[in-house]
Amino acid sequence: MKLDKLNIGIIGATGAVGAQALKLLSKRKYPIQKIFAFASKKSVGKKINYLGDFLTVLETIDDNLKKIDVALISVSTEVSKQLAPRIVDFGGIVIDDGSAYRMEKYVPLVVPEVNEKSLDFHKGIVSIPNCTTTPLVMTIDAFNKITNVSKVIVSTYQAVSGTGQAAVKELENQQLGSKINEVYDYNIANNVFPHVDDFMEDGFTKEEHKMINESKKILDDQMIEIVPTCVRVPVKIGHSESITMQLEDNIPMNKIIKTLEEYEGIKILDKSTDFPYPMPLYTEGKNDVFIGRIRKSLKNPNEINLWLSCDNLIKGAALNALQILDSMIKRDLIK
Ligand SMILES: NC(=O)c1ccc[n+]([C@@H]2O[C@H](COP(=O)([O-])OP(=O)(O)OC[C@H]3O[C@@H](n4cnc5c(N)ncnc54)[C@H](OP(=O)(O)O)[C@@H]3O)[C@@H](O)[C@H]2O)c1
Repeated sequence: MKLDKLNIGIIGATGAVGAQALKLLSKRKYPIQKIFAFASKKSVGKKINYLGDFLTVLETIDDNLKKIDVALISVSTEVSKQLAPRIVDFGGIVIDDGSAYRMEKYVPLVVPEVNEKSLDFHKGIVSIPNCTTTPLVMTIDAFNKITNVSKVIVSTYQAVSGTGQAAVKELENQQLGSKINEVYDYNIANNVFPHVDDFMEDGFTKEEHKMINESKKILDDQMIEIVPTCVRVPVKIGHSESITMQLEDNIPMNKIIKTLEEYEGIKILDKSTDFPYPMPLYTEGKNDVFIGRIRKSLKNPNEINLWLSCDNLIKGAALNALQILDSMIKRDLIK
């Protein structure tokens, strides 16, 4: 198939990630034949503005799915499990934002800056990681270029858009005085809770297990120890993470800074930049992972502490998916 015939399906086009995928797609220079927007039955027929034109939301029936060469899927795990295999059966390629396939052996789980080569072994479905895993593995991978990272203790500060559009609306309503909470167990306005996704038997949450297991798969490192605490905060867009890393060697700070600066997709903020450290209000709408507050532990020079923020809907989701598509095109994997 020639690339000038690429038909792209955005599944979940009315959602938080799907809307961002369309925005980013409109700036890309792919030779696209057509973009198809899909959502649930209740949205079928809705019009979505795209480059001054309108996309009509379609139903995910087979006749429509057959038209797709590449599908970017941003829906729940259950819906993704129904749709992805059908699209692959019809000859399409699926890039899935959700957790349905991430840990399947036959599915590459990809952050292109870290493990682009694993795309070569795809069998039709490729997954992107959880939005907290992506900036974490990029940071670990940067350090792995100069030493070995053996242990990571990470606390996340996760925006409500990580839960989808409904959670953003719930925070906005609560900020206007509503006391109703339907998406979360507790009010999120003026609050934080150390609870993202369901609790597991071992006391960790599913989100924390995702960070551990996905990081190991992407880094191809089963030995690394990752200890996460995932926290939801009343921020609309932009996840942050406080990270402590045990390094095998005592690396001079200037070498650490240089390595992070040279890493594709990472930017350092410090007292010489517009803002002295990363914050969601600064990183919203931006492509990069922003790192700041880099410092060594006072008693252990092999231990590094840093803070990062990144837009969970962009690098944490839609941009990573599109970079996978860029990479698959570059690697001649879209036939
Ligand atoms: N938000 C993030 O930061 C983030 C980051 C990485 C990965 N992800 C993953 O991306 C996925 C989507 O997240 P989101 O935040 O965009 O959620 P969202 O805002 O709740 O959007 C969900 C989308 O799924 C559509 N949908 C629901 N049922 C459907 C069906 N039966 N058939 C087709 N479409 C259906 C919805 O359409 P209607 O509008 O018609 O209901 C909507 O477009 C999730 O798996 C999430 O884990 C999210």
